[in-house]
Amino acid sequence: MVKHTFPVDRADALEEPSRYEHCSREELLAALGAGSDATVVDLGSGTGFYTDDVAPAVGRVVGLDVQRAMHERYRAKGTPANVALLTGAVDSLPLADGVVDAAFSTMTYHEFATPAAAAELARVCRPGARVATVDWTSAGTGASGPPTDERYDLGHAVETLESAGFRTEQASSRTETFVHVCRRV
Ligand SMILES: C[S@@+](CC[C@H](N)C(=O)[O-])C[C@H]1O[C@@H](n2cnc3c(N)ncnc32)[C@H](O)[C@@H]1O
Repeated sequence: MVKHTFPVDRADALEEPSRYEHCSREELLAALGAGSDATVVDLGSGTGFYTDDVAPAVGRVVGLDVQRAMHERYRAKGTPANVALLTGAVDSLPLADGVVDAAFSTMTYHEFATPAAAAELARVCRPGARVATVDWTSAGTGASGPPTDERYDLGHAVETLESAGFRTEQASSRTETFVHVCRRV
């Protein structure tokens, strides 16, 4: 089930460098903590803004997005050699059991935040795999990002992912965003 999708006709906004104000490349790589041979999934990869930042640091990135047109935007920009694009939804991942070493989502959790999606993530992650989530918080002002009533807070991510078999390692809420890092038990 897809709750909501970011409109493709606004995809240019996803390429704005000012987005690093809310999540920098360095913060994302530190949260992910993936090694140079890791297979990493970007959940809701969009135009590949953050996929491009992660790709040079890991073995392989699977950019998953429910909108084929987002992949077309990313391909037009140029995808790194170690990035493969898959079309599908987080609650129905086109991946085998236990093949994922790490996963992340940036500004997308609010679009897939269901127990079914967390269960799918648990299925494809190997034991010990890390999942890093950075998203707009419902506790924010709404000055940037989606309206606050379309967002979730940190506690929602903690509960949803822990219920699916992940253990929280890092959890922090900031002005407009939250960061949650957990590990597959
Ligand atoms: C707000 S954009 C963020 C894109 C990217 N993560 C970034 O930070 O630049 C959300 C993306 O997630 C995708 N998406 C929404 N719901 C999804 C789902 N259930 N499964 C996979 N992708 C999804 C949308 O098509 C869109 O490209």
